[in-house]
Amino acid sequence: MMTSLSELTQRKSHGPKLAVLTAYDYPTARLLDDAGVDLLLVGDSLGMVVLGMPDTTGVTMEMMVHHTTAVCRGVTRAPVIADLPFASYLTPEMAVANARRLMDCGAACVKLEGGVSMLPQIRAIIDAGIPFVGHIGMLPQSVKEEGGYKKKGKTAESIDHLLADAQAIDQAGAVAMVLESIVPAVATQITALVKASTIGIGAGPDTDGQVLVTPDLLGSFPWFRPPFAKARADIAGETLRAVREYMAEVQA
Ligand code: KIV
Repeated sequence: MMTSLSELTQRKSHGPKLAVLTAYDYPTARLLDDAGVDLLLVGDSLGMVVLGMPDTTGVTMEMMVHHTTAVCRGVTRAPVIADLPFASYLTPEMAVANARRLMDCGAACVKLEGGVSMLPQIRAIIDAGIPFVGHIGMLPQSVKEEGGYKKKGKTAESIDHLLADAQAIDQAGAVAMVLESIVPAVATQITALVKASTIGIGAGPDTDGQVLVTPDLLGSFPWFRPPFAKARADIAGETLRAVREYMAEVQA
C-alpha cells in the first residue's frame, strides 16, 4: 500500500529521519521501493546522470513525464516527488498546468527551485490542491546565472535570504523542502524554524531527512561525484568487469 505523505512528514517530530533517493527508471524505482526507501525523487539531475547533459537546464517537461511515468510504474509503497524542470514554471498558470501533468503520471507531489521569488507559482500549485516540496540553497537550474555551484549560507546576507525563503515556502504550505548545499549550522536553524520536513543534500546531518542522487550512492556515474556523497557500491567497476568477462568468452 502507498505510504501517505502526511505519515512521512509527521516523522519530523519523532523520527526516524526520511531516507530519500532519486530514481529515473522502472527497475531502479522498483528496487529502491523494495528496499524500503521513504520517498523517491524523479530529479532533473536525470539530465546529467542519465542523459549526459552538462547541467539540468536542458531537461524538458516531455523528459520528466517520460521518466516519472516509468518510476511510478515501479513503486507500490514509496510516494514519488517529481521535479518541475527549467523554464516549466515561468508563470503561476504554467506551474499549475505542468504540475498537473506530473501528477497525472502518478507523482504524489512536485518540487520546484526557489523561495520568495517563486511564491506566486508555489501558492498557485498548493491552491490547486497539489502537494508541494520546496528546494532552496544551491539551485542547479540557476547554475548559468550564478556562474557555478556555490554553497549557500556563508554570509549574513545569504543566511537572511535562506531563512526568508524557508519561511515563505513553509507558510505557503509545503509538505517538505530540499536544502541543497547549505552551511550545516544554517540548515539546522531552518529545520528548527519550519513545520515542513527538511531534506538535506550537502547540508550536514541535522535535517529531517537526507536525499542522494542514486548513481552517486551506487557508483554508477564514476565521472563525477560530489564530495559529500559516499559511494557504497561500484556499479561502474562491476559493469566493466562483467562486460570484459563476456567479451573474453565470446572472442575466445
Ligand atoms: O534533481 C535532483 O536530483 C535534485 C536533488 C539534488 C535534490 O533535485
